[in-house]
Amino acid sequence: MKVVLVGYMASGKSSIGRLLAKELSMEFIDLDEYIEEQLGKSIATVFSQKGEIYFRKKEHEMLTKVLNNNKSIVLSTGGGTPCYANNMETILKKSDHSIYLQLSVPSLVDRIQNEKEKRPLVKDISNSELPEFIGKHLFERRQFYAQAKHTVDSADKGVVELTSEIKELLL
Ligand code: S3P
Repeated sequence: MKVVLVGYMASGKSSIGRLLAKELSMEFIDLDEYIEEQLGKSIATVFSQKGEIYFRKKEHEMLTKVLNNNKSIVLSTGGGTPCYANNMETILKKSDHSIYLQLSVPSLVDRIQNEKEKRPLVKDISNSELPEFIGKHLFERRQFYAQAKHTVDSADKGVVELTSEIKELLL
């Protein structure tokens, strides 16, 4: 079985994916971490040294690689993964379950403003400009996330509660 988590930055994909995999005794892959391991550099360094287009190319290659393998996995993607190349199509074709962790703009702003440093796309945006940036960005990206097989409203729910909600969807 392959389960893929999608959603905007800071929507909880990595923490939920990790717990879900543990509870289902499945292998967990965090696509950002996988890219960092394969390239031997942090995502922030890849963006600053090679640029976003290079990152998107590697992201596409590595997504295809992990989904083409026969193993059962829970995969957490990066916030932009479904929105480039034909990645969402690949996710839909190769996974048994794709799950969109949906959060509103204000909740995302709340979460992201305290953890901008590791995220090259938002690190130079001031907190006062963040709501407008995220609002527009999510508007562009939502059409990709919304293609996921399941959408889980993630507002005001902790990792444990969301993980058990997702487990129910996989039955
Ligand atoms: C990105 C999100 C990041 C990472 C990269 C680009 C995006 O992952 O892949 O910085 O385009 O939204 P997270 O969603 O884990 O922050």
